[in-house]
Amino acid sequence: MYLNINQFDESILAVDTPDPLRFAFAKKHSAHAGGMSTPVMKDQQGEVLSRLLTTEKSKSDKRCLYVHVPFCRVRCTFCNFFQNAASRKLVEDYFEALMTELKEKAKQPWTQSGLFHAVYIGGGTPTDLSPKQVETLGKAIRQYFPLSTDCEITLEGRINRFSDEMYYRALEGGFNRFSFGIQSFNTQVRRSAKRLDDREVVLDRVADLSRMDQAPIILDLLYGLPYQTLDVFEQDLNDFMATGAHGIDLYQLVVGGSAPMLNLVEKGKIPPPANTPDKAAMYELGSNFMTKHHIKQLSVNHWARDNRERSQYNSLAKTYAEVLPIGCGAGGNIGGYGMMQHRSLDAYMRAIKSGDSVIAMMTKQHALEPLFAALKSGFDSGVVRKALLPALAGEDAFEFFMPLFKQWQQKGLAELDSQYLVLTLAGRFWAVSLAQACIQVLQQTDVAAKHIDSMAV
Ligand SMILES: C[S@@+](CC[C@H](N)C(=O)[O-])C[C@H]1O[C@@H](n2cnc3c(N)ncnc32)[C@H](O)[C@@H]1O
Ligand code: SF4
Repeated sequence: MYLNINQFDESILAVDTPDPLRFAFAKKHSAHAGGMSTPVMKDQQGEVLSRLLTTEKSKSDKRCLYVHVPFCRVRCTFCNFFQNAASRKLVEDYFEALMTELKEKAKQPWTQSGLFHAVYIGGGTPTDLSPKQVETLGKAIRQYFPLSTDCEITLEGRINRFSDEMYYRALEGGFNRFSFGIQSFNTQVRRSAKRLDDREVVLDRVADLSRMDQAPIILDLLYGLPYQTLDVFEQDLNDFMATGAHGIDLYQLVVGGSAPMLNLVEKGKIPPPANTPDKAAMYELGSNFMTKHHIKQLSVNHWARDNRERSQYNSLAKTYAEVLPIGCGAGGNIGGYGMMQHRSLDAYMRAIKSGDSVIAMMTKQHALEPLFAALKSGFDSGVVRKALLPALAGEDAFEFFMPLFKQWQQKGLAELDSQYLVLTLAGRFWAVSLAQACIQVLQQTDVAAKHIDSMAV
């Protein structure tokens, strides 16, 4: 197999520029790279799911549990994930439905046939559940699911109204990792994004929780928000250090179509968010800051201050690990099928009440999905390792990509040797675009068909 890279343009090969950090590609379009898959017809989805869940699996397979809480007290202006405004009655009804689904999924032979290594309660804002609900959810997961003894159980949410009672009940429920969206500590940035507390409140609370030292406290910061200049971002990083939190994610702001921010900018109510070259400069600042302070890099956008933070869910979910989805709007994959549950709360509640399937969309993953996943997780970690790429049509996938990797080396995105493609700072900033380019190369050449033929032999 030979990869002729002359057929591709700069959206794959990258722009030849003295400043690849800022200009190698036009812009980042989404948070994650995606692969090819085939939709499963609506009338077959229920049957496929019940076959998957009644099939026992090998104990050695890694698997995760993802539970979605689709509520937030207030919608942030930048957010693409918002689903429903939280009200006590809605949340209570939802919680009941969620527990029904949780117990049902836990009973399945597939679920009981292997160990779960990471559990993630995400959203939305799971910390907008009541303390009692958080405790009940954690206890139910530990009671009904086979978890590994060192299973990472993360509660995502925010600092707003995160009381001592919430913290202790969450610990009582078995949560052993907390991930808080901070976005920025700066009060002006926060207010313009409709975040609920001012800087001092957030700083003090994160410092309190980190000092309690019961479980790792992880913070999400965004870079590129309106009013968030380089100086403000540097202060955000210093604030992270001052809180003593155990880990940090630095996410590039990517504002999607439905986020309120675009409208506010158009009306002149807030300044526009940063452009791509400015966000690249912020990533550079953040990355250099972490190096200067000897904070260990776990992936292109995640750092740990000490060994306590393992970020198991984030790294497992990016490999070929199976993820069992539970809740309205939850997504996952099992047995070679990807699935997305109803995003509409009404549709989800109706399905649970009538005992129907909660699946809104199902796809059969491509035969090359293990390679897509290995590429995505390699680029996300900052190193693509030859030994970890599955074979492509019976041949070495790293060798197949070599002409493309050499291009990226010449363009300052990576350092290449015979075993490893190691991303430079610019490559790490563009990691999702690089992973997506590899997947597109597989899509646009006849190599995928050759792979399928080779499997049939
Ligand atoms: C889905 S949110 C849930 C966290 C929690 N509700 C909160 O508000 O902090 C998880 C993370 O996604 C990130 N996020 C949200 N909107 C984003 C956007 N437009 N671009 C990049 N990251 C975004 C934020 O950093 C956020 O902490
Ligand atoms: S950032 Fe969090 S709280 Fe804000 S709208 Fe998105 S999911 Fe909700």
